[in-house]
Amino acid sequence: MKVMRLADSGNSPKLVEATLPDPVPASGQVVVRVSAAGVTPTELAWYPTTHDPSGTPRTGAVPAHEFSGSVAAVGPNVYDFTLGQSVFGMNDWFAQGAVAELCLTDAASIAPSPITLTPTQAASVPIGALTAWQGLFEHGHLHPGDRVLIHGAAGSVGHFAVQIAHLHGAHVIATASRHNFDLVRQLGADEIIDYHSTRFEQAVTEPVDIVFDTVGGDTLLRSLSLVKPGRYAVTIAADKESSEDPRVQHAFFIVKPNQRQLMEIAALIDTGKLRTLIDAVVPFAEAEAAYSGKIAGRNGHGKLVIAVDPPTV
Ligand SMILES: NC(=O)c1ccc[n+]([C@@H]2O[C@H](COP(=O)([O-])OP(=O)(O)OC[C@H]3O[C@@H](n4cnc5c(N)ncnc54)[C@H](OP(=O)(O)O)[C@@H]3O)[C@@H](O)[C@H]2O)c1
Repeated sequence: MKVMRLADSGNSPKLVEATLPDPVPASGQVVVRVSAAGVTPTELAWYPTTHDPSGTPRTGAVPAHEFSGSVAAVGPNVYDFTLGQSVFGMNDWFAQGAVAELCLTDAASIAPSPITLTPTQAASVPIGALTAWQGLFEHGHLHPGDRVLIHGAAGSVGHFAVQIAHLHGAHVIATASRHNFDLVRQLGADEIIDYHSTRFEQAVTEPVDIVFDTVGGDTLLRSLSLVKPGRYAVTIAADKESSEDPRVQHAFFIVKPNQRQLMEIAALIDTGKLRTLIDAVVPFAEAEAAYSGKIAGRNGHGKLVIAVDPPTV
């Protein structure tokens, strides 16, 4: 199969085209013929991209762990999927990713694709929507009526967090650039703060039940005093290695694949309650530019997507 993988040499990560053997599914696994893959640019520097699970340095990783496509092969003990079925989902961060013609995943990490989305749109959903879902419900313990502060509301995770919190009856306070205000309001934000011109901690006049942070650093630290005692700060942008502050360590989590949640997310999309935003779509040959940020004509919100199989764009 044709892939884009990290070059073995050079100081900064660079993607190069290569050919790898087609993956063979083991028990419980599925091979997906990739239509499109979602881009998380920071992933190239993450530990699973540069190390094996044993800690050995890793070379030649294929990035992008969320995708849409069709089932190309199923391993033993897979009963939920049929050949050719349209699916979307994610795979393990240590596995080879989806900037590839074929991608190997656990059957439990994918779900039938939303029927109202194109494959390109479907590839923009899994990581953003699952991260928002898990951050709000599993880590933030969201209840209707909660006040929720969401940093990075127009981002690929943040725009799902705003919508899901709003759908669950929360009062949503969002931070974003001014050019994204109309959009973030349409997604369900009740209050929006321009983080360029306003110190958000001065604009938020009453404590919040949940901070959902996608920015990290100073933004997370300045948010902690806004959280009501006994409620939750959640961050996806810091990581445990980058801070010794126990409050940061406690707030951080990494998204996990979850088939049931993907199915609930697909149902919300197909009933028109949840939408996905795409920043730009780039062809397979320009995957390197997608990861290095050198893409023209971006919308300025949502997810960057690589169209692996051009007819599905
Ligand atoms: N831990 C996990 O499981 C996990 C999962 C997914 C992503 N991540 C990480 O989470 C981070 C965000 O991911 P993403 O895909 O949502 O990124 P993204 O699509 O690039 O969005 C980031 C957003 O942050 C906003 N922003 C930048 N500086 C800000 C500030 N000081 N205050 C408030 N908002 C600010 C920008 O908003 P404007 O455009 O409005 O300025 C932008 O929309 C990345 O570091 C990513 O690697 C972690």
